[in-house]
Amino acid sequence: MNNTFYGRNFLTLLDFTKEEISELLLLAAKLKAKKKANAECRPLTGKNVVLLFEKDSTRTRCAFQVGANDLGMNVTYLGPTGSQMGKKETIKDTARVLGRMYDGIEYRGYKQETVEILGKYSGVPVWNGLTDKYHPTQILADFLTIIEKFGHLEGINFTYMGDARNNMGNSLMIGAAKMGMNFTACAPKDLWPKEDLIQTCQEIAKASGATLRFTDDVKEGAENADVIYTDVWVSMGEPQEVWQERIQKLLPYQVNKQVMESAGETAIFMHCLPAFHNRDTKVGEEIFQQFGIEAMEVTEDVFESEQSVVFDEAENRLHTIKAVMYATMREPK
Ligand code: CP
Ligand code: NVA
Repeated sequence: MNNTFYGRNFLTLLDFTKEEISELLLLAAKLKAKKKANAECRPLTGKNVVLLFEKDSTRTRCAFQVGANDLGMNVTYLGPTGSQMGKKETIKDTARVLGRMYDGIEYRGYKQETVEILGKYSGVPVWNGLTDKYHPTQILADFLTIIEKFGHLEGINFTYMGDARNNMGNSLMIGAAKMGMNFTACAPKDLWPKEDLIQTCQEIAKASGATLRFTDDVKEGAENADVIYTDVWVSMGEPQEVWQERIQKLLPYQVNKQVMESAGETAIFMHCLPAFHNRDTKVGEEIFQQFGIEAMEVTEDVFESEQSVVFDEAENRLHTIKAVMYATMREPK
């Protein structure tokens, strides 16, 4: 691997070229193979990273924790309470303090601006573990999974159904545009990504050969898709009051058997998780009691079907996040 990543932040895929994204995916595949073969080394032994979480997480937190341990590093977790950050101390000051103690910083929270300030002032690599706008480490895991299933990214017909202007919709569109995929956002018009981001991605697509399509027609969106992807209808940080409107708008875009049949039997189903596919969660049951629906963005039969690769994706969070830490922290020889 060359050293173009050393010392860099990982805040949005917009900052990385197609070749660089490919390189990170290749590195992730290598680290995955090493782990499976019990042939891991600990190239970052003695380094320290801090994980800042202003929102909940299972996959991202655990992937950073296990990934850092696998690479030989020590980890500090700071949750939504218990530190001074943002309350008695500015993000800029927090960045400068943490940069004196740690070799890398992960941030999950609300504003993209916050992770950018951390990146600008800490002096160490900062990784975006999800903001309201972007979720770039998730895209690496998704793309590694697609490569494992189809052997390539270029030319893959990728359909995202649901809230296409959330962090996942935005980041998947950027990633698909970079990697030369055929991206379809299938959603009500007012839930398409923002026009300025679409324009940026159209420019990127010109260079990569990607196509971007936007439709509110479910059948048209699903037909011939290699990948049907969805995410929650209400993201972390959004107010409870939006549930009713969102359910009304997005129920027609629920990924169910009919959608998967339109896509065809070789299509795979993907979801970044967590997913509302039954009533076996607190929120799932509350939604059932209030709105009478058993599942939201994906039905139980699709989630549990052979076409569903959601747990491969979840595992790949570890290998791809490890690749990002390794690439940005490993000193050039
Ligand atoms: N997909 C994802 O980011 O999951 P967590 O919220 O559990 O980290
Ligand atoms: N859009 C979701 C993604 C969770 C991984 C959220 O922000 O809650």
